Amino acid sequence: MPEETEDHKRDEGFTVTPWEVEGNIDYEKLIEDFGTSKIDEELIDRIKDAAGEVHFMLRRKIFYSHRDFNWILDEHEKGNRFAMYTGRGPSGNTHVGHLMPWIFAQWMQEKFGVELFFQLTDDEKFLFNFNLTLEDTYSFALENALDIIALGFDPEKTNIIIDTDNIDTLYPIALRVAKRINFSNVKAVFGFDNSTNVGSIFYTAIQSAPCFIPSELEGENVPVVIPCGIDQDAHFRLTRDIAETLGYYKPALLHNKLAPSLDGTGKMSASKPSTTIFTTDKPEDVRKKISQAVTGGRISAEEQREKGGNPDICAVQNYRYFIFQPDDEIVEDIADRCRNGDILCGECKHLLMDTINYFLEEHQEKRELARDKLDDFLL
Ligand code: TRP
Repeated sequence: MPEETEDHKRDEGFTVTPWEVEGNIDYEKLIEDFGTSKIDEELIDRIKDAAGEVHFMLRRKIFYSHRDFNWILDEHEKGNRFAMYTGRGPSGNTHVGHLMPWIFAQWMQEKFGVELFFQLTDDEKFLFNFNLTLEDTYSFALENALDIIALGFDPEKTNIIIDTDNIDTLYPIALRVAKRINFSNVKAVFGFDNSTNVGSIFYTAIQSAPCFIPSELEGENVPVVIPCGIDQDAHFRLTRDIAETLGYYKPALLHNKLAPSLDGTGKMSASKPSTTIFTTDKPEDVRKKISQAVTGGRISAEEQREKGGNPDICAVQNYRYFIFQPDDEIVEDIADRCRNGDILCGECKHLLMDTINYFLEEHQEKRELARDKLDDFLL
């Protein structure tokens, strides 16, 4: 593997690429390594002025890094429109961690009235996962689309792209992108080598293409912002490098930190079903999984009452913080009671189970209704 990718492992004990996220991620270091900018208080104030409020994911620095978002706000202030683009690699069913950036995107759409392009990359997950067939990834794409729709995106302003269905729109743009990117670029950025299949080498051009679809559809350049996990930045560094030579604007970015897993290690991952809560889980599944979550609790109830727990390393508290509890005071109050030994893990887990089950009951209803709305959302 080339040095760019190996560096994170060797020097810092963590890896963040679009296909591998491992270790204890130093998010500040990623800002430096990738050359992005911090979302600082000044930018948050600007967003607040424009949106009328600040989303908790901005306030908590879950969305913590950006590229050129000031420019997007400049355009917005001038009364110019911009578009939004995000995506999902359909490698399995949706888990609640996936919803985190989508909930934010829905908020952005509502507050800024923007058109959204949501890419479902069935091709990517087919190419990069030896065990998945194209039928698998396509059907996951359709299932994932239901979760997206259930979150309340505006059908008039939302276009879901499924790569193998919308390849006629993507391909001419992807070709122009691909012509500007050579093998050594993708080797360096993604850590490819001679054993990488040729589909994977081309793939980044397909992920770039939606950045320019709004401009193609409008017949004039439209600024685009991409809310995405910081792990996806590599693709868009390449996109930004070639955008202007193709006559487009560089896409702006808003980066989120990755949702942590329930077992207390790394990010939530669908490959660990016992600790991952899927959007289709039944209340008893949720109760079981949350009851097994790794917490910052002590060995015994007695010891915990005496010495208190550690909410900072607790998966239960992480769920609240990252997704399910927008109210900072409630999050802090539970953390305080945990530190003081006033609340034990059992009770704390039950609070979360109820919150999640309440959310999922509604989500699952909307998800079923979404089956009939799918056509309104597909590009
Ligand atoms: N590669 C992304 C994934 O594996 C999916 C994706 C496609 C995406 N386009 C995107 C994610 C744009 C964020 C923004 O999940």
